[in-house]
Formats: sequence, structure tokens, C-alpha cells
Amino acid sequence: MKALYPGSFDPITYGHLDILERAASLFDEVVVTVAVNTKKESVFTADERVKLIEKCLEGKSWSKNIVVDSFTGLLVDHAKKLNVNTLIRGVRQISDFEYEFRMALMNRKLAPTVDTVFLMPKEELTFVSATLVREVAYWGGDLDHFVPKLVAMELKKKFKDKTRPI
Ligand code: PNS
Repeated sequence: MKALYPGSFDPITYGHLDILERAASLFDEVVVTVAVNTKKESVFTADERVKLIEKCLEGKSWSKNIVVDSFTGLLVDHAKKLNVNTLIRGVRQISDFEYEFRMALMNRKLAPTVDTVFLMPKEELTFVSATLVREVAYWGGDLDHFVPKLVAMELKKKFKDKTRPI
């Protein structure tokens, strides 16, 4: 069975990679899909986010059944286009659940054959979010525990002269 793992991935974190590894072991094929037009302003362009994910997966033995792409518009339309009926979302804490629950039900209302499967990351990653990672990066904090080195390097470049908002 094929599954779609959508998100902003601005940028990809160890939390996302943990979810992705779990999804890759549960499904025959996983498509990680980067949302291009969300309400949020992103630090990385969609292209940059896709490339960062691809680089993070390079050489990982568990990533052979994973492909990366991007989408604009409704997620369920992308799912239909790819012929996928399963969405993957990571849930870190109960506070994530309210939003995730609403989104899953909205997506199922829009596309009744599309269901969402929630996966939990390792306990020690439950506090890691791309939003907090961007904030730590902006203020020059150590990113080693939260993102792969190559992502940390790209974040540092983005916030080098603090000319962009977090
Ligand atoms: O990583 P995020 O920001 O929590 O991901 C949210 C995302 C991109 C999965 C969600 O906002 C999304 O699916 N956006 C596309 C528009 C859409 O289909 N929204 C869901 C219907 S409510």
C-alpha cells in the first residue's frame, strides 16, 4: 500500500525523519510531499525543501521506498492524482491532536476514501518542531539534536545577517 506524508517541512527535522522511517517500514511506498502554497511564509522555497529532504534521505538504508515531491492546492486532490488513500501525519503531543483531528476529518469529508494514519515519533523528539528549530537557528543556537548537519548549515546561511523574519 502507498501512503502520502504531507507537510511544510520548513525545514525537515529529526522528528519528520523519525516519522518517515516508521512510515517507510509500514507501507510499500511513501511519497513525502512538500506543501507549496500554505498560509505560512516559508524560509526555504519549495524546491529547497524538496532538495533538503532528498539529501537527508541519501544513503539511508530504510529510504529505498520513499520519493519526494511537492503540491499546490488541496492535499486530497494531490492524493487522488497519485492514487493514494492514506495520509500520514506525526503527532507529538495531545495539543497537536485537536488540529490534526479537524484536518483529518475535513480531508475525509472532501475525499471519503482518504484516511489519515497518525504516527508518534521517539519520545525524545516530541518537543522538536520546525518552528522552534527556525527560532533557535535565528538566534544562533546549537541545532545538532534537532536537524541533520546539512540542514543546520542551510539554516545558518538563511539567518546569517538576520535580514529575514523567523
Ligand atoms: O507541516 P504542516 O504545516 O503542519 O502541514 C500542513 C499541511 C501542509 C499538510 C496542510 O496545511 C495542507 O494539507 N495544506 C494544503 C491545503 C489543504 O488541503 N488543507 C487541508 C484541508 S483543511
